[in-house]
Amino acid sequence: MKGIISIISFLLVGIATAIYIGFGNTYAPKPIAVDHELQGLNEKYILKFSHVVAENTPKGIAASRFAQLVKEKTNGWVEVQVFPNGVLNDAQGEFEALKKNEVQIIAPAISEIAVHDPKWTVIDLPFLFENEEMVERAFDGKLGELLFQSIAQYHYKGIAFWDNNFKQFTNNIRPIVTPADLQGLTVRIMPSPLLIDMYQTFGAYSQSFPFNEIYESLRRKHIDGIENTLSNIYSKGLYQQQKYMTVSNHNYLGYAVLMDDKVWDTLPVHHQNSIMEAMEEVTEWLRTYAKEHNKDMLLKVESSESLNIHYLTESERNLWKEALSPIYEKYEPIIGKEIMAEVWKLQEAIR
Ligand code: LMR
Repeated sequence: MKGIISIISFLLVGIATAIYIGFGNTYAPKPIAVDHELQGLNEKYILKFSHVVAENTPKGIAASRFAQLVKEKTNGWVEVQVFPNGVLNDAQGEFEALKKNEVQIIAPAISEIAVHDPKWTVIDLPFLFENEEMVERAFDGKLGELLFQSIAQYHYKGIAFWDNNFKQFTNNIRPIVTPADLQGLTVRIMPSPLLIDMYQTFGAYSQSFPFNEIYESLRRKHIDGIENTLSNIYSKGLYQQQKYMTVSNHNYLGYAVLMDDKVWDTLPVHHQNSIMEAMEEVTEWLRTYAKEHNKDMLLKVESSESLNIHYLTESERNLWKEALSPIYEKYEPIIGKEIMAEVWKLQEAIR
């Protein structure tokens, strides 16, 4: 009797464990089926999508809309489960989780991807983009294509570029008007090597740590300032912990939606097509929404009157560009001729 009870308990624990963790492995890499039309029929795929921002931000809403669209387009055969706010992983942890097949979709900020592929530092070149139109051309054109080609050598499948908006400086020490104003400040940044160098050029100290630790770090005065989009500054209440903001638009914060290429290849082609269709629709919607949302967040921060706001003028902007020319010199060879040629073309086209 005792033996039977232990066998039953063993089986129950086994089933419970399989229910808890098992679904995530349904699509673990399998041999490629010969007939792609038949492959995956009557098989449900669950794709865990991890991201680090709030649900009511452009990326948060886009992820939920994407999940809904994929469900509709695949009649429920592909289920995208969204995990926001870094509940599963912080941004760097997402890369590891993707490789271990613990999550299947991530949408990290490009400055986080630059840690894994130095060519992606191109998007961190300060004052690279004059406006959103230029960003669009970059993401949709040859530059975006070259970045996805480059990351493919590390076995990432690039699905789409997603928008947030331009980054602004905030801090508690003084208004930031010229590069010299950053001298001696401790600023939280994302871990891109280019950003680390940029703050060093200004004589500032930079610290990289996960997005969801920023609020507490500001509250405890471990850092003086941050750089981020108005969407992130507002949605996490970061502005409440800061005295000064400069609308500098010095860098663009965009994302790339990535999957592991082996996991992508295990998906039947008809599902891959539905996922891509859903992604195109969401990406187009996000483009307009992210712009509008960041404008609205600026209005909200302005009307809160809790921050002293400076808007960088054209001549101040030129001063910053000059001060940052050593960064361009250092990173051009790292980014490579082919991608830099696209940068110059984009700058020429916008003039
Ligand atoms: C960050 O500063 O870490 C964020 O910009 C993250 C994000 O995904 O927007």
